[in-house]
Amino acid sequence: MISLRLIAAETARVLTGVVLIVSGLLKAIDPVGSALKIGEYLAPILDERWAWSGMISLTLSFVLCAGEFLLGAFLLMGIYRKLSARLSVAFFAGMTFISLYSLFADPVSDCGCFGDAIHLTHFETLLKNIVLLPLSYLVLRDARSLRHLFSRRERWLVAVLAVVGIVVFMVQNYRHLPLVDFRPYRVGTDLRAEMAREDSTLQAGLLATTRYIYERGGQEQAFTPEAIPDSSWRFVKVQEDATLAKYKAKYDFTPMDSLGNPFAEELLADPGVTLLLLAPHWNRASEGSIDEISELYTQSLSMGYRFYGLTASSAQEIADWRYLTGASYPMLLMDATPIRTMIRAYPGLVVLRGGKIIDKRSFTDFPTVEEVSRYLHHLREPNYIAPAPSLACTYLLLAWGALLILGFLRFWARKLHLTLYLKKRIHYPYKRKRSMRKNIVAGNWKMNKTLQEGTAFISELKSALSVKTLHCDVIIGAPFIHLATVASLAEGSPIGIAAENCADKAEGAYTGEVSAAMVASTGARYVILGHSERRAYYGEDNAILTEKVRLALANGLTPIFCIGEVKEEREAGKHFQVVEEQLAGTVFSLSPEDFSKVILAYEPVWAIGTGLTASSAQAQEIHAHIRQLIVKKYGETIADDCTILYGGSCNASNAEELFAQPDVDGGLIGGASLSVEKFLPIIEAFH
Ligand code: PGA
Repeated sequence: MISLRLIAAETARVLTGVVLIVSGLLKAIDPVGSALKIGEYLAPILDERWAWSGMISLTLSFVLCAGEFLLGAFLLMGIYRKLSARLSVAFFAGMTFISLYSLFADPVSDCGCFGDAIHLTHFETLLKNIVLLPLSYLVLRDARSLRHLFSRRERWLVAVLAVVGIVVFMVQNYRHLPLVDFRPYRVGTDLRAEMAREDSTLQAGLLATTRYIYERGGQEQAFTPEAIPDSSWRFVKVQEDATLAKYKAKYDFTPMDSLGNPFAEELLADPGVTLLLLAPHWNRASEGSIDEISELYTQSLSMGYRFYGLTASSAQEIADWRYLTGASYPMLLMDATPIRTMIRAYPGLVVLRGGKIIDKRSFTDFPTVEEVSRYLHHLREPNYIAPAPSLACTYLLLAWGALLILGFLRFWARKLHLTLYLKKRIHYPYKRKRSMRKNIVAGNWKMNKTLQEGTAFISELKSALSVKTLHCDVIIGAPFIHLATVASLAEGSPIGIAAENCADKAEGAYTGEVSAAMVASTGARYVILGHSERRAYYGEDNAILTEKVRLALANGLTPIFCIGEVKEEREAGKHFQVVEEQLAGTVFSLSPEDFSKVILAYEPVWAIGTGLTASSAQAQEIHAHIRQLIVKKYGETIADDCTILYGGSCNASNAEELFAQPDVDGGLIGGASLSVEKFLPIIEAFH
């Protein structure tokens, strides 16, 4: 059953993830714009005249945009869930604080959360953050339970791809122009028509929202701008409606010539081609394309085009630029802000024809000296459309989309057990009928943990599992002395309790021994028998073990019976033979009915507690062999239904691969079962 709490966490994860990805990407499309916005926020502490202030804003812009995108992507894909959830709570908490500050101190006109694509008021931004902050907390609360598209082994690769992807994307947008231009001066805009339209809307807005207050004989009255009263009235004040703000001008294209005369009409009314070379300040413009600019200028003139520089530079800066580059084109002056709105490059080229913007380029994309002539000829063609910006970004986005779709497909395939089914069809030597066998993840604490530590572990695991959809049974093997307490604590949870041993005698004068009946009376339902440590250190041989298994079964306990070879036997290639003898000397003496109650655990002794694991292929090979032995002894149905666990340095990073093997039905976990943090991902390896 999926709990409501998990549904809430999953929904919150999708919502916060999508918002983070969208806002990160929209800002990453225009890193320079985001840096300008950050500069506005930092204006009180960062003087924009300082040479390195632009660098700081740009660095912060890269970190913020990429960070936001990555947080969203990681949350959606379920990689580094806990860390991403923690960081997103911190992020939304920070953003809530900034939006509160913006609401009261009004440091910027627009918050810039979604770049230039979506504009929110300060209040809307605050509302957005107030909703997202608790949602991100819901994600954090159950971060470990969130589903994931990629396994632990794959996640670093996906993370590296994501980081490289977003950084390359931003660098592309920085070096060339933004992939999508959300600002008013995009290519194709008929600037003349748009400005005329805006002008008449502004006039209408003024008429609708502005009132002149006059008074006569102590009586005040409001008049529209069209109906100003005669001189018998005395003017008091102008009253503006708050809605005037919505008629604010988008186009602040106000170039002036060197004498300070407006020059916009002159530029826009010309039906020919005009090239504008823009840079807010020439002293900060790149000198990397001076030859191209000179060539553009000379050839433009010879083709009858007009060519101007457009800048907010001082006379001295202009003189320095002319001296440095030999520039002789006339300079027009305009405020730095509209220049930055028009183009994000330093310098950049905007081409006008008949008042329409027909091309925009960053200096990195200026035609080379050889290409200039062809480029200028193109500008004359009536339907010339500037070539699309570098396709690298588009390919990158497509690749990302494809990766995500692949992840989702794999996730669903796994959910439908398609992969497992296919693997089984390929590897499994005989056709499976409807199998009854269970997947199990069993812990074996061995001689570890005090009673208090044991109960704390069970409580933590219980609450972690309560928000999970389980795809396997979970068992914890605990010392005798803990059994009654942990069994009653685990009641009502999916956790089954196992003893780690029981006596080979039913009852009587056997000081220090614990019988199977006593184990059963604590509420434990399983008992681990035949563990290699018991065989090696306490001399338990096949005869003793057979007796223990028999007594366990007689008392209603399910034995988890361990077999496995030592290193020398594996090296001598005797492992198949060893497990065969161990089975033949013990559990194979049981009746089919009793044997079908036993869980087997193959534990190569050389892998136990050593950090060495059998490879998944080695595990599959010997598990398949064991199942074949059972087929021979008890027939296909019992063999097919028998759960065979793998044990020996099984942990979060190898469990998924091991459990994906058709004959590996789970694990018996020693060291990694001592903390919930390490044990839980092993349970999650069964998706
Ligand atoms: P390990 O122990 O996971 O620490 O190797 C396994 C076991 O002994 O059951």
